[in-house]
Amino acid sequence: MTAAASARVAGVGLGLRAPLFRDLMTRAPATLRWIEVSPENHIGRGGFFESMLADARGRYPLVTHGISLGLGDREAPPRDFLRALRAFLEEVGSPWHSDHLCFGAVDGAHLHDLLPLPFTEASIRAVVDRVALLEDALGLPIAVENISWYAHPGDAAMGEADFLQEITHRSGAGLLLDVNNAYVNARNHGTDARDFIRRVPADRVVQIHVAGHLTGADGLRIDTHGEAVCDEVYELLALALARTGPVPVLLERDGGFPPFDELAAEIERLDAIVRAAAP
Ligand SMILES: [Fe+2]
Repeated sequence: MTAAASARVAGVGLGLRAPLFRDLMTRAPATLRWIEVSPENHIGRGGFFESMLADARGRYPLVTHGISLGLGDREAPPRDFLRALRAFLEEVGSPWHSDHLCFGAVDGAHLHDLLPLPFTEASIRAVVDRVALLEDALGLPIAVENISWYAHPGDAAMGEADFLQEITHRSGAGLLLDVNNAYVNARNHGTDARDFIRRVPADRVVQIHVAGHLTGADGLRIDTHGEAVCDEVYELLALALARTGPVPVLLERDGGFPPFDELAAEIERLDAIVRAAAP
């Protein structure tokens, strides 16, 4: 990452989504400072997706966030995809590239889901090796994101915070800390989200995600990115920022789009929390 590219990304960002694009370009609050882009939504697509990207890049710094690398997949991503991804990352000038700490493909079949890895030494080694492969292939630092998960495979040899600690410190990867995922997991599995936030490797956090989630009639929390951010997630964000300092914070909104003024108000509230975080 160049220092210049990294320094441009600060404060609050929003994901680039077609239904938000017009408002994003014409009436976003001044507190919106950068845009997150998923390369998989743009690679190989021209037309509107190409022009939307060009307009966003002309106005905001861009950061890339992938949805298909599956950092715990047994098989490495295809070389031709990695070449196309590298060209995309260079084109938009992203300071790092993030993807999810999960698996999503088995025997060449992509499952289009973010499935949890066992919290084991074998998983740590596999992810550390994959991060090295990706950083070499992409020429950028990799950041790994903690996912929301609803059931867990196998016997966990350690807690999730220790799992993140081992992976980021052994691989040198950054951590994209998703505080909504932390909250959803804690509520669904009866653990303490504040304790999790206190134990993640704060020195590795390069970016934070916040989002809204759905609460089912049975109480199950579902990570939809289609609701307003809840008060408890704002509080977790403040707790995380007290440990990390003012790292860039992204509002994830992928569906159930409200009037843009509601998103603008969320951006303003997030910005106030980031500004209150001590450097
Ligand atoms: Fe996220």
